[in-house]
Amino acid sequence: MKILSTTAEIQAYTKEMKAQGKTIGLVPTMGALHEGHLTLMRRARKENDIVIVSDFVNPTQFGPNEDFDKYPRVFDADCEKMETVPVDAVFHPEPSEMYPDGYCTYVNVEGDITHKLCGAQRPGHFRGVATVVTKLMNLSRADRAYFGQKDAQQVVVVKRFVADLNINVEIVMVPISREESGLARSSRNRYMSDAEKEAALVLSRSLRKGEAAYEGGEKNVEAIKKIVSDEIKKEKLATIDYVDVYSFPELLPIETINEPTLLAIAVKIGKTRLIDNVIIGGDTK
Ligand code: PAJ
Repeated sequence: MKILSTTAEIQAYTKEMKAQGKTIGLVPTMGALHEGHLTLMRRARKENDIVIVSDFVNPTQFGPNEDFDKYPRVFDADCEKMETVPVDAVFHPEPSEMYPDGYCTYVNVEGDITHKLCGAQRPGHFRGVATVVTKLMNLSRADRAYFGQKDAQQVVVVKRFVADLNINVEIVMVPISREESGLARSSRNRYMSDAEKEAALVLSRSLRKGEAAYEGGEKNVEAIKKIVSDEIKKEKLATIDYVDVYSFPELLPIETINEPTLLAIAVKIGKTRLIDNVIIGGDTK
């Protein structure tokens, strides 16, 4: 597995791969890799000649009071996991390599899709995501890029700027990978104590309740939101950030579910903010 740490190195590598006619799959990550990230990589492995993973804690997508400094950085352990896929090349730059002195260009997806859900709680977050992902797409010259449904709004935002900026890359959304308990895998799970992890099961449990109600015939959005919120409120360590329902992938407000619909939640367990979601009411593509 090649380790590339400068933009010149990754550009030279992708130029050579393209000259050989290889297809390239990109998996952008912030490292602290877990099974969820590896599912994306395995899917990319199946569908492309070359798999490039980026392992970069992107400073521009963190707010001033968020966990940028505390975010786990475990590059050696990440490499061991990537070798098992296997991955062809990992791009692991320093922040100063991606944002050198004088850097001043950002990709800003305007409009409603970035202002709701996580965008409402994290101003500037999607501007940072869109900027770094655009740079990674340019550097990797990827034919396909892989994103998890875990961050469903991120997938919607990425698809939006890829279409708007005519970037020639196919966006593939991969289903949420969960622990046996139901907990969605996340790099932030490692912040939690055992008691908090137990409490965190309320996220997937409440979503399953909402989904079951829908399958039992409940189509009213407010009723479904109430079922999910009531379940979360039963857990003492949990504080709701949002429980929301939007059409998917448009992210438009709806009152009744009769199309693919995103039921998404953000909940703080102690100090750790977790997100989870389920897509109900139709084909998830
Ligand atoms: P990160 O949180 O490291 O996630 C990298 C990718 O892994 C994202 O596409 C995310 O949705 C996916 N992922 C995380 N947990 C998952 C799970 N349990 N099941 C399936 N997929 C999962 O998302 C980011 O990094 C950053 O915003 C990034 C896109 C790299 C830009 O900096």
